[in-house]
Amino acid sequence: MSTSAKEIYVTALKNTHAVEMQALQIMERQVERLERYPEMTDALRKHIDETHGQRRRLEEALHSFDETPSAIKEGFLGFVGNMMALGHTPAQDEILKNTYANHAFENFEIAAYTSLLAIGDAAGLSAHRAGLTQSLDEEKAMAQRVHDLIVPTTQRYVQLTASGEKADR
Ligand SMILES: [Fe+2]
Repeated sequence: MSTSAKEIYVTALKNTHAVEMQALQIMERQVERLERYPEMTDALRKHIDETHGQRRRLEEALHSFDETPSAIKEGFLGFVGNMMALGHTPAQDEILKNTYANHAFENFEIAAYTSLLAIGDAAGLSAHRAGLTQSLDEEKAMAQRVHDLIVPTTQRYVQLTASGEKADR
C-alpha cells in the first residue's frame, strides 16, 4: 500500500499543527514566569499572537480536506521536547536555558514549514502556499529576534547574578 502525496501533506499539516500547539504552551508558560527580561517577554507575547494565526491557517488547510487536527504523535517532538523540558526545571539559569531552547524551537519550526511547503509542492497542492509562507516568514523573524536577544539577555543575567539579584527568569 502506498501513501499518496496528498496523504503525506495532510499528515505534515497535522504534525505542524501539533508543533504550534506545543509552541503556544511553551511560550505561554514562559511569559507567565518571566519577570526581569522585558524584551524576551515582548518577543514572546508578539509571537504568541502570531502563533494563533499560524494555528488557524493550519486548521483551515486541514478543514479544506475535511480533516481535523489530531493529538501530537508520540515522539514527533522527542528531541525538541527533551530540550524544552530543560527550562521547566527551576534553576538559577532558567532564562539562559529557555533562550537556547527558544532558539532551537524556532529553527525546528523553520525546518517544519520549509518541509511542509515542499510536500505541498510535490503533491501539487498550492491553495495554502501563501499563508504557510507567511507563517514560515514569521518563524524566521522570531528566530532572528531570539538570536538577537542572546547577548543582551546573557549580559543582563550576568549583571543581575553578579549583583546578588534574582536573575533566573
Ligand atoms: Fe514560532
